[in-house]
Amino acid sequence: MTDSSKLSTPEGKSAELPMITGTHGPAVADVRGLNKATGIFTYDPGFASTASCKSAITFIDGDEGVLLYRGYPIEQLAENSNYLECCYLLMNGELPTPAQSEEFNKTIKHHTMVHENIRDFINGFRYDAHPMAMLVGTIGALSSFYHDSLDINDPHHREISAHRLIAKVPTIASYCYNRSRGLPFMYPDNTLSYVENFTRLMFAVPAEEFVPNPVAVKAIELIMILHADHEQNASTSTVRLAGSSGANPFASIAAGVASLWGPAHGGANEAVMNMLDAIHDSGETIERTIARAKDKDDPFRLMGFGHRVYKNFDPRAKIIQKMCHELLDELGGDQPLFALARELEEQTLADDYFKERRLYPNVDFYSGIILRALGLPMNMFTVMFAMSRTVGWISHWMEMHADPENRIGRPRQLYVGAAKRDYPA
Ligand code: SDX
Repeated sequence: MTDSSKLSTPEGKSAELPMITGTHGPAVADVRGLNKATGIFTYDPGFASTASCKSAITFIDGDEGVLLYRGYPIEQLAENSNYLECCYLLMNGELPTPAQSEEFNKTIKHHTMVHENIRDFINGFRYDAHPMAMLVGTIGALSSFYHDSLDINDPHHREISAHRLIAKVPTIASYCYNRSRGLPFMYPDNTLSYVENFTRLMFAVPAEEFVPNPVAVKAIELIMILHADHEQNASTSTVRLAGSSGANPFASIAAGVASLWGPAHGGANEAVMNMLDAIHDSGETIERTIARAKDKDDPFRLMGFGHRVYKNFDPRAKIIQKMCHELLDELGGDQPLFALARELEEQTLADDYFKERRLYPNVDFYSGIILRALGLPMNMFTVMFAMSRTVGWISHWMEMHADPENRIGRPRQLYVGAAKRDYPA
């Protein structure tokens, strides 16, 4: 903890606000004593200037376009790691040794199946239910199956719940997909890798032998590494706030899935493709799309652009754009749509409105092109994001419960409603 700054109020009260510095990034002014010393609150809708917690999991430098998982640059992990190794890293803080990796992978594989009643549960949804609606409901319902691991104060319960969620979400995601297509639910095949198994759950049918497509496996592995965690984004903050009340891990993660669904957050990958299709199919020009995004009277925003933290290129967008170059031919993807996205990016980045506001492509701008090339329908795009982010959510949930400073989250407000008044006699 370094020096402090002082805040004084018009009423003559003052508070010393100690400055705290971390490993990387801006210092924070510790305002925990502010209300007691001065009676005032801070005001920060959207928390753009507020650090909600201390965390050692992920670091983002928005100006430099840097993303680190436990200190390792995302570019190096994307190049050299795999999703389960990143899961171990995010949860435990260090890369696993070969023995730890083997043990962790075996543990996760041991939990890939779900209770048979989950199949009935998912079949209870309408055939045309959005897969995200099924995912939110099913993950929340998992707490009704695991009464043996809901004690959030027991580190072993927290760990087995984490393993169950990482292992079962791909199985559940595939069931949501198959339910919406009227296809049979496949059982996991633990002779396959985590991502190979997911492609089999998604695309195999009982009537035919299935061999995972190595190009698709490589693309999904990379997409999942890139989406695994991202500091205190809206859905992760939702998981922390839900979990701070003592809610069980399944309910807390279900809250994160619900928050991710919004088009301003994880739902943007689906919204980007709708936007690109509208330009490609309806003849809406790029110029018109950009003009609408700039028009304050039009609620439309350029989906896949802008970010609360990145005021430079989202490093994940750069990696996915490179993936589009490399994999679209092999995947038989939509080159014209990729060319359109590149043209839209080029014209947008040249426009003063976006330059002045430092709005760049984010992770969602190109991911939909790859996901569609993999044969996924658009309503599964955010499910893919949720499947990947499950490890980030659970890592923050575990970090919060292990933090001695952890207490229930309960923000205050600036009341601007009616003054106190009496009920008419
Ligand atoms: C994700 O937080 C995370 O880390 C999220 C995420 C993760 O991994 O968890 O990275 C994943 O959610 C990525 C973001 C996906 N969302 C979209 O692509 C939707 C489109 N983007 C916008 O909705 C917006 O940029 C946000 C929500 C991402 C960020 O919103 P902010 O930080 O609240 O930005 P803002 O509303 O304060 O915008 C500042 C200015 C405003 O203009 P002025 O009022 O200053 O004139 O920029 C404008 C905004 O109108 N603006 C946009 C814009 N984004 C911001 N204008 C047009 N198109 C856009 N996309």
